Amino acid sequence: HSMNMKGMDHSSMDMSHESITELKSSLGKNELNFPKVLKPDHEDNNSISFTVRAQHGTSELFEGIETKTYGYNGDFLGPVIRVEKGKKVTIHLVNDLKEDTTFHWHGLEVPGNEDGGPHKVLKPGESETINFTVKQDAATLWFHPHPMHETGKQVFKGLAGLLYIDDKNSEKLDIPKTYGEDDFPIILQDKTFTDDKQLDYDKVMNEDGTTGDTLLINGGVDPKLTVDRKKVRLRILNGSNMRSYTLHFDNEMEFHQIASDGGFLNKPNRTKEIEIAPAERAEILVDLTKVKGNVVTLVNEENTTILPIHLKESLDSSQTTNEAKTLNNLTLTDEIKNKKVKKTIKLAGMGEDVTINDKKFDANRIDFSQKQNETEVWEIENIKDSMGVMNHPFHIHGTQFQVISIDGKEPPDNLLGLKDTISLKPGQKAKIAVKFTEKGVYMFHCHILEHEDNGMMGQIKVD
Ligand code: C2O
Ligand code: CU
Ligand code: CU
Repeated sequence: HSMNMKGMDHSSMDMSHESITELKSSLGKNELNFPKVLKPDHEDNNSISFTVRAQHGTSELFEGIETKTYGYNGDFLGPVIRVEKGKKVTIHLVNDLKEDTTFHWHGLEVPGNEDGGPHKVLKPGESETINFTVKQDAATLWFHPHPMHETGKQVFKGLAGLLYIDDKNSEKLDIPKTYGEDDFPIILQDKTFTDDKQLDYDKVMNEDGTTGDTLLINGGVDPKLTVDRKKVRLRILNGSNMRSYTLHFDNEMEFHQIASDGGFLNKPNRTKEIEIAPAERAEILVDLTKVKGNVVTLVNEENTTILPIHLKESLDSSQTTNEAKTLNNLTLTDEIKNKKVKKTIKLAGMGEDVTINDKKFDANRIDFSQKQNETEVWEIENIKDSMGVMNHPFHIHGTQFQVISIDGKEPPDNLLGLKDTISLKPGQKAKIAVKFTEKGVYMFHCHILEHEDNGMMGQIKVD
C-alpha cells in the first residue's frame, strides 16, 4: 500500500486499520491487580444480594498523577460478582454518577426488564432493585452501562465489571479455580490519555470505534503477572471499545481454550493463538510448567507485549498435568441446523453511517419478535460494499446462541460453544441458533461501542 492512505480507494483496502491507534507494549512495571470479589449484602442457601453503585473516582494510574475515572463500587472498573446457578439474585443498583446510566448484564439470560438496556435509565441519585434467578451454566459474563449515545464514553471512563456464574460442573472439573491464585481475570482495554493523563473521551473518540495507544489490564497500565510455575487459567474479557486482539505467546507455546462467551466448550481446544473481539470472552488454560526460562510473554498479532508472565522459581510438582477431557455436553441437533432462516440481519456501513437492515436504532420501534424458548435460525451478514470494510462484532442481549455455520461451513472448534457475540469480517455470513429463555424486549447490536451509540442496534420482543 502507498504511504498516502487517505487518497486510496476504500474498497481496495482494509479501512479499519487506518483509524486504529498503534498499541504500545506493556513495560511490565506494575504487578497485575485483580478486582475484588464483591461481598454480598446477604446470602443464604437459596438467595444472594448485592449493591452495585456507579460512581466517579480518581485513580493513580501513573505515578503521582490523579486520573479522573468512573467505577462500580470503587474508583475504576468494577468488582467481580460471583453467583451460583440456581440461586435467586437481588441486586440493588445505585447511580451515584452526575449523569444518566444503566446497568446491563452482558451474556446473562434475564427477563428483558432486568437486562439494563437503554430503556432502563437511572438518573443521578436514583436507584432500583432487580431480581432474577440464575438458570444458565457456569460462565464468565460481564456488566457495563448502556445509556443511549453514552455507552462508549462510560465504558471508556471505567465502567465495566465481571460476572462469574459457578455451577456443579465448574466446581467439579479438574481445572484451576482459585481466584487470584491460579484463576485470573484478564480484562483487556486500550485507552488514550491526554497529555495531563486524563481520559477525555470527547478529545479521543472515533466514530468507528475509539482505540488507544495504552493497554490496561484490569485497569492497570504496564502490567506484568508473577506466578508460580504451574497450570493457570486466564479468563480473558475484551472490554475495549473497538480493538480486537489476536493473542499468542512469544515462545509459540500451545495452550487450551476451555470456554467462550457463554461457558465451557465441550472439550479443550488446543491452539497457539486466539482472536478475541470486543465484548467476547475466552478462558484459556496455560501450562507454565512447560516454559523454559523465567518469563513468557503474551503478545498480540503485532508482537506488542500484552502481558509478561514471570515465573517464580518454585516448581510445584504436585500439579497435575492431566487435561480435563470433557468439559461440557452442548448439542446442536440436525433438526435445528436444518431449520429455515427466520431472521436476516444485515450489518452495514461505517462511521456515523452504520445500520442494521438499513435502519438506525429507534427506541420506539420493535424490529423483531420471537417466542420464548423457541429456537430460531438467524442469518447475520456483514455487508461488503464500498463502505463495508470493517469487522462488526454482533451481540444479542438475553441469550447465549450457537453458531451453525460461517459462510456455509462448519464453524471452527473455538466457536462451537455458547456465544453472545460473534465477530464477522466484511462479506462474512453466519447462521446461528437463537433461543430466549426469558421474556421481554432485548437489544441486538454491533459491540463496537461507537457503532452502537451511532444507532447500529435494534430491538426484539420475546413473549
Ligand atoms: Cu455488552 Cu448491549 O452489550
Ligand atoms: Cu449485552
Ligand atoms: Cu460495527
